[in-house]
Amino acid sequence: MDRRKFINLGGIGITSFTLSGFIPKNLVKKPIVISTWDAGIAANVGAWTILGAGGKAIDAVEKGVMVTEDEMNCCVGLNGNPDRDGHVTLDASIMDHEFNCGSVAFLERIKHPISVARRVMEKTPHVMLVGEGAQQFALEQGFKLESGELSKDAKNSYNNWLKKSEYKPVINIERKNAMSQLDANKMAPHRLSNGEWNHDTIGMIALDSFGNLSGSCTTSGAGFKMRGRVGDSPVIGAGLYVDNEVGAVVATGQGEDVIRVAGASAVVEQMRQGKTPTEACKIIVERINRIKKEKAKDIQICFIAVNKNGDFGSYSLHKGFNYAVHTKEGNKLYEAKSLD
Ligand code: GLY
Repeated sequence: MDRRKFINLGGIGITSFTLSGFIPKNLVKKPIVISTWDAGIAANVGAWTILGAGGKAIDAVEKGVMVTEDEMNCCVGLNGNPDRDGHVTLDASIMDHEFNCGSVAFLERIKHPISVARRVMEKTPHVMLVGEGAQQFALEQGFKLESGELSKDAKNSYNNWLKKSEYKPVINIERKNAMSQLDANKMAPHRLSNGEWNHDTIGMIALDSFGNLSGSCTTSGAGFKMRGRVGDSPVIGAGLYVDNEVGAVVATGQGEDVIRVAGASAVVEQMRQGKTPTEACKIIVERINRIKKEKAKDIQICFIAVNKNGDFGSYSLHKGFNYAVHTKEGNKLYEAKSLD
């Protein structure tokens, strides 16, 4: 197909070309924003203030997850579980429709790591800043240094953990019947009855009215982790990947096992080969399951994906993962399909 023919088709309402054919403009479901877990309901509302008004996906995915970073009743951000030395350390990444990306890892005492990641993307020639250097950069950019005191909830969790001090980093504890406990119109509860968070990460992907994709991911990482441990969330290609010709993917769950298979990028590549978002997520979840063998029962991994047409999907290793989808029709929580 030459360029002139493509432009002519654009004139009669054809907007994109995929392996499965041309997609008429009116069949592309946009805008749309999708985010992980029940916290995604409130985050989507934040993102929709931008997407619903015709704004850009990159602005929406930053604003959306900032809602979760701000929440005192959530595990993401400074209210998350600390590492085993009692410090909360944060990881975040962001990526736009032109392969621009930025991330921070092992960042302390800064409330909005996602916004620091965006500054890395926009104000530096680099992709990733970590630790003290990331904090120094954040302060230079005008971010406020928070006290470093653990929140009341995090202190309680930490004191509980100290009783045994078992090195078994906690990630993504599942709740049974998550859907039935939730009212999508209210702020969803994020703690288990034993006081633990049920997860620690929010990932968000969006397709805007211009047909552009972006994604973001922010986390306090595994609870009571080894000091300096970094998961998949700030690793572009693992926790998050966006290819504007194909789709966007974000991961949540056991970060080490997402990194091992370059998870988000691997899912995007499956969509490039013509797989639906759900099929693409499933193939990579199955790959992790094969690699982990019997140890797969001890971890959770979930991917959410959206393609260029606004089709979305998800797959997880085990039951209990949910994700929130906001379109013009409303904001809804879905239960992911899983291997068990
Ligand atoms: N997926 C979040 C982490 O492993 O840190």
